[in-house]
Amino acid sequence: MLELKNVCYSVKDEQTGKKQDILKNVNLSFRDGEISVITGPNGSGKSTLIKILMGFEKPTSGRIYFNGEDITGISVTERARKGFTIAFQQPVRFKGITVNKLLELACGKKLTTEGMCECLSAVGLCARNYIDRSVDGTLSGGELKRIELAAAIAKGGEVFLLDEPEAGIDLWSFEDLVKVFEKLHDKTVIIVSHQQRIMETADKIVLFDNDKLICAGRKEEMFAKIAKQPSLCWRNIKES
Ligand SMILES: Nc1ncnc2c1ncn2[C@@H]1O[C@H](COP(=O)(O)OP(=O)(O)OP(=O)(O)O)[C@@H](O)[C@H]1O
Ligand SMILES: [Mg+2]
Repeated sequence: MLELKNVCYSVKDEQTGKKQDILKNVNLSFRDGEISVITGPNGSGKSTLIKILMGFEKPTSGRIYFNGEDITGISVTERARKGFTIAFQQPVRFKGITVNKLLELACGKKLTTEGMCECLSAVGLCARNYIDRSVDGTLSGGELKRIELAAAIAKGGEVFLLDEPEAGIDLWSFEDLVKVFEKLHDKTVIIVSHQQRIMETADKIVLFDNDKLICAGRKEEMFAKIAKQPSLCWRNIKES
């Protein structure tokens, strides 16, 4: 179980010196064996939350607990050791590193051709065409997103933080992507997404709004709320 208690994150505007709140009093819990989809408008703080969960940013205040242990102060590396795996909204390019090498680095051991094929075919790529390619600007946006997801699968783990994994992936491949998430169903999977098809895979939906206030609940309940209130006046709705 991953829990956030009163997590706040603010930054200081370099020019005006004014404090800007990005996350305010976020209280959420993510259970094992549950897929949660975080959705909401651009700039509402979804990626910031993912980076805080992975340890790239530290909350200004509040605590994060993993299986009851306070992990607020621990590093990205320590979180990775505990089984946290991230796929960024904008994947990092590694000039000079081949897909083959990236997958081996991700899983921490040599991979057989079969193992390589398994990771790449899960994201709809034929290993033969990709293992010797460099993870650089020559890959298309969608290919890069798929390879990043393949690296996350190769690494494995207990908590998967996937920031817009569908971004740049053609609609035709959505069902394959959904299968990837379904395979992770015994883990804690937190996906940021704007796509209804991805939301349909969720057990829980977390909704951010522009005032940084959020509500969260079971998928069915959240879909019913959205249908009843399409203008999305969410500010007084609390996690159920
Ligand atoms: N270090 C920072 N300094 C200043 N502003 C920041 C910083 N980090 C994030 N922000 C701002 O915080 C807000 C939330 O950013 P974030 O990337 O979390 O949004 P998001 O919900 O993921 O948006 P999108 O749907 O576009 O990906 C944005 O307005 C962003 O400009
Ligand atoms: Mg984002």
